[in-house]
Amino acid sequence: MKAVNSLFCRAALGAALLFTSAASGQTPVYLDPSKDIEARVEDALGRMTLSEKINVIHAQSKFSSAGVKRLGFPDFWTDDGPHGVRPDVLWDEWEQAGQTNDSCVAFPALTCLAATWNPQMAALYGHSLGEEALYRGKDMILGPGVNIYRTPLGGRNFEYMGEDPYLASRMVVPYVQQMQALGVAACVKHYCLNNDEEYRHQVNVIVSDRALHEIYLPAFEAAVREGHAWGIMGAYNLYRDEHNCHNQYTLNRILKQDWGFDGVVVSDWGGAHDLDQAVRNGLDMEFGTWTDGLTMGATNAYDNYYLSRQYEQAILSGKYTTRELDEKVRRVLRLFFRTTMNRQRPYGFLCSEEHYETARQVASEGIVLLQNRGGVLPIRAAEAKRILVVGENAIKMMTVGGGSSSLKAQHEISPLQGLRDRLKGQTQVDFARGYVGDVGGSYNGVTTGQDLKDERPAEELISEAVEKARGADYVIIFGGLNKADYQDCEGHDRKQMELPYEQDRLITALARANKNTVYVNISGNAVTMPWTREVPAIVQGWFLGSEAGRALAAVLTGDVNPSGKLPFTWPASLKDVGAHALDAFPGTWREGGKIIDEEYREGIFVGYRWADRQKTRPTFAFGHGLSYTTFELSNLRQSARETRDGRLTFTVSVRNTGTREGAEVVQLYVSDLKASVERPLKELKAFSKVTLRPGESRDVELTIDRLALSFWDEQSNGWKAEPGDFQVLVGNASDNTPLKAKFRLVE
Ligand code: BGC
Repeated sequence: MKAVNSLFCRAALGAALLFTSAASGQTPVYLDPSKDIEARVEDALGRMTLSEKINVIHAQSKFSSAGVKRLGFPDFWTDDGPHGVRPDVLWDEWEQAGQTNDSCVAFPALTCLAATWNPQMAALYGHSLGEEALYRGKDMILGPGVNIYRTPLGGRNFEYMGEDPYLASRMVVPYVQQMQALGVAACVKHYCLNNDEEYRHQVNVIVSDRALHEIYLPAFEAAVREGHAWGIMGAYNLYRDEHNCHNQYTLNRILKQDWGFDGVVVSDWGGAHDLDQAVRNGLDMEFGTWTDGLTMGATNAYDNYYLSRQYEQAILSGKYTTRELDEKVRRVLRLFFRTTMNRQRPYGFLCSEEHYETARQVASEGIVLLQNRGGVLPIRAAEAKRILVVGENAIKMMTVGGGSSSLKAQHEISPLQGLRDRLKGQTQVDFARGYVGDVGGSYNGVTTGQDLKDERPAEELISEAVEKARGADYVIIFGGLNKADYQDCEGHDRKQMELPYEQDRLITALARANKNTVYVNISGNAVTMPWTREVPAIVQGWFLGSEAGRALAAVLTGDVNPSGKLPFTWPASLKDVGAHALDAFPGTWREGGKIIDEEYREGIFVGYRWADRQKTRPTFAFGHGLSYTTFELSNLRQSARETRDGRLTFTVSVRNTGTREGAEVVQLYVSDLKASVERPLKELKAFSKVTLRPGESRDVELTIDRLALSFWDEQSNGWKAEPGDFQVLVGNASDNTPLKAKFRLVE
C-alpha cells in the first residue's frame, strides 16, 4: 500500500506542478484540499475532455475504472464485499491473479452481524473491513447488503441483515459511516427488491408502494440519509419493467431526488442492458457488462460498454447533450475526492490482531442460543471426559464459496479445531462424519485444500456416529447448509427448506442415543427442524468467518455468554411464510419467456408481521435468543401519555436475575390500535442491548418518533401518522413482549 500511495502522491504532485502555472503561481482549485469539494469537482469537470469523462464512468477491468492520469486522478478500485476483501482476479478474467498478499480476515456473514443487535459491532465491522480494504488498495467495498429476508429459500440471505427494516437500518448506518471515515466508499447493495437469485436478471417485481416504502426501502434510505453512503449498487432484477441498474423511478426519483443521494450508482456486474436507460435513468458507473476481452472491442473490450464509446458517439452525433454525462462525472469526481484524492487516508492493515478480534467479537455476539432445555449448555468442561463432535460442518471451511462474497482467508478455525483447542489436556474430543454434503471447496480458483471425500452410505455414517455417541458426555452436531449451489449461495435459491443430506435422520438418531445432544446449525437461513422436541439444545451458528471455531467453542463452553437474537423469523415450514402461502415466489413467466412477473402478494406482511397476522407459531420468533443467565424486565414508564409530534421516551428496568454476567436486548414494538388501513399487529421501532453483572439492574431508555407511528400512505405518497391510540409492547423477543403501555397521538 505504501508503494501504491507514494506512486499516487507522485502522480498528484506531477499534476500539481503541471497546473501550478508559472503565470499564476497558484495551485488549481481541484487540487487544493482546503477548497470546498463541490468547487473542486466543478473545477476538475471543466478541465476534462469528452473522452476523459467517458473513461471514468465505466470499468476498465473486472473491478477497476480509470482515473484521469493527465489531471493526477488515480484509477479507482472496487472489490467485494461484504464480509472481507475478495482476493484479486486477473485484469479481464474471473480467475485468480495469484497474488500472495491478498489473504484476508473473513468477518462473520452479515446475518450474524445483524444477530448481534449491537450497532457498535457494525461500527467495528465497517472500520476493520475498511482498514483491510485500504491495505489492499481498494477504494470501494461492494457491500453491505440490506435486501430484506423475504423467504428462507433466498440464496443470498446470508449476505443481508434480516427481515426487519428497522433492525437493518440501525445496523447498516454505522458499518457505512465507519468504513467511509477511513476514505473507503461503501457500495450498499442490491438496490432494490432483489429477493430472488434463481431468475435474478428476469424477475420483474410487482409490489405495493406501501410494502416498497415500509419494508424494502428503509435500510437503503437510512444508509443514504444517515450513513451518507457514497455508493449504491443497482440490483439485477426489474421493477416497473425497468432493470434496477437504470430505473427512472427508483434511482432518479426516489434515491437521487427524494433522498438527496450525492454518491454514485454503480451497476451490478452485468446489470446494464440499454444505452438510453443507462444514460437517462440514474446509472453513474457501469461495471461487469458482458465481455470476454476477445470477441468484442478492437483493442479494449470495455469500449463496448453502454456508457463507453457508443455513448461518446451518441453525444458527438447530437443524440444527447453532455447534461447527463456531466452529472455522472460530477458524482464520480466527488467520489474521487472522497477516496483516492483524500490525502488524509491512512494506510490500513491486513490481518491485524484487532481485525481478528473484531471477527471473534462479532461472531461471539451474533451466535444465537435457540433452545437449551434442562440447561444442557454450557458444556461443563471440567466434568466432561469425552465429547463427540459430529457433522461435515464441524470440519468444512466455509469462507470459500457462496458466490461473490467468497474469500481467501488467511486462516479459518473450524468448529472441531476450536473445541479441540479450547478443551486441550482436559477433555477428549472425538469426531464422526455423520453425513456427507458438499465435498467440493473451490471458488474462482481459490481452493480450501481440503479433501472431504467420503463414499460411505448414510446408513453407515449414521450408525458409526450413534455408536460413538453412546457413553460420550456430550454430542455436538455441526450441520445445516453450506455455500455450495442451491444452499446458501449466489446464483440460485434453495429448492426446499428441509435440511439436506439426510441430516434429520442423523440428528434424531443421535438425540435418541445421547441425552446431552446439542445441534449447532451453520447457515444464513432458517431450516425446518422437525426434531426440536428431541434435541435439548439448539444453537444458530451462521457463517462465522476466520474465527468461527473459537467463537463457537467460547459460547458452547460458556466462556462467552450468548446474547445473539434472530434477525428473522424461523418458520416451522414454508406454509407459514407469506410469499409461499400466497404462491408468490418466484412468479410467473410472461409470454415470450423473457420476464417473470413476481407479485409480492403478502405486501407488508413479511416475517413476524405475517406470523402475527396469521397467528402462526414459528419454531423460533424474530428477536428470540437465550442466555446462560436470566433477565427480568419490569417497570415500564413513559415520558407522556399524549404526544403531538410522536416523540416519546419509554424507560424499562432490566435486572440480571441469574448467576452470570450477560447481555439482553430490550425490544420495543409499536402497535397502532385503530387505523384507516390494515397495519401489522406490531413493528419493531427501538431496541437496546445492555450488559449486566449478576444481580445488577439498569434502566434502559427507548425513544420513538413520529415515523415510528407512521405508515406509507399511498394516497398522499408519503408517511402518515394517524391521530388516535397506540400501544407499545416491550420485551426480549417478538413473541415475548409482556410490558405494555398506551399513549395517544393528538392533532
Ligand atoms: C453480485 C454483486 C457483486 C458483483 C461483483 C455480482 O454478481 O451480484 O453482489 O458485488 O457480482 O463481484
